[in-house]
Amino acid sequence: MDRRPIGVFDSGLGGLTAVKELRRILPNEDIVYFGDTGRVPYGTRSDQTIIKYARSDMDFLLKHGPKRVLIACGTVSTVALGLLKKEYALPIDGVVEAAVRSAAASTKNGRVGVMGTPATIRSGAYERLLKERDPGIVTFSAACPLLVPLVENGRISPEDIVISTVVGEYLSEIKAAGVDTLIMGCTHYPLLEPVVAAFMGEGVRLISPGREAAILIAAEQEANGGGNDPQHSGVAEYFVSDSVAGFADLAETFLQEKVTGRVSRVDIE
Ligand code: DGL
Repeated sequence: MDRRPIGVFDSGLGGLTAVKELRRILPNEDIVYFGDTGRVPYGTRSDQTIIKYARSDMDFLLKHGPKRVLIACGTVSTVALGLLKKEYALPIDGVVEAAVRSAAASTKNGRVGVMGTPATIRSGAYERLLKERDPGIVTFSAACPLLVPLVENGRISPEDIVISTVVGEYLSEIKAAGVDTLIMGCTHYPLLEPVVAAFMGEGVRLISPGREAAILIAAEQEANGGGNDPQHSGVAEYFVSDSVAGFADLAETFLQEKVTGRVSRVDIE
């Protein structure tokens, strides 16, 4: 038994889409979440800045003694995962590999779309890993710089003309390419699932990297032991680097449950 929490971080609130799944699949685990709401978005910044931010996020989480860390951020996972794994001596998971596995298993026509932040698309990580898994897969990618700020501002309704127009513009080429699987390559995007699904139409499977990573972590914990006490009811504690006012409302949309754990502000700089 390992009672230490699972650490999870993201540039903002998107990583809560992974926390939601972790809490569903691993209800005995404690979770410490850090959302860098004071510095979001990461995905429009340089690799250097993203790496610098990711290190400070890791250092903060390590103060809470996690047994492992899930980088619930597509941007940090694509830009900095390899580096962080070398620098920190604990198990670290990103969200990309799990999403790639699921997409490769799902596609029938070998045409896979990837939507992500500019940094994620620039990294070419999804394309590379999909090719490695199945050389027959052709990837069509779209950088979507405006989506994270819109989601963080709660613009997620399919009736919202702004978000529907922006999503349509970003995804038009991917749609025209006839993909049958679309990786929503940023953990903020699953909140846009109804908007994306409405635009892409039926027959396109949407993959949520946070969800896939949570499933993989749960399977690993099951296989290797190292889970928490089965009698213990998992507690989630949240930290953000900007004001906590308004956090609960938006977080509840991501988590699809009430925020019951403590929420605190931390000065990450
Ligand atoms: N949730 C982050 C991701 O998965 C958002 C990145 C950003 O802050 O731009 O990429």
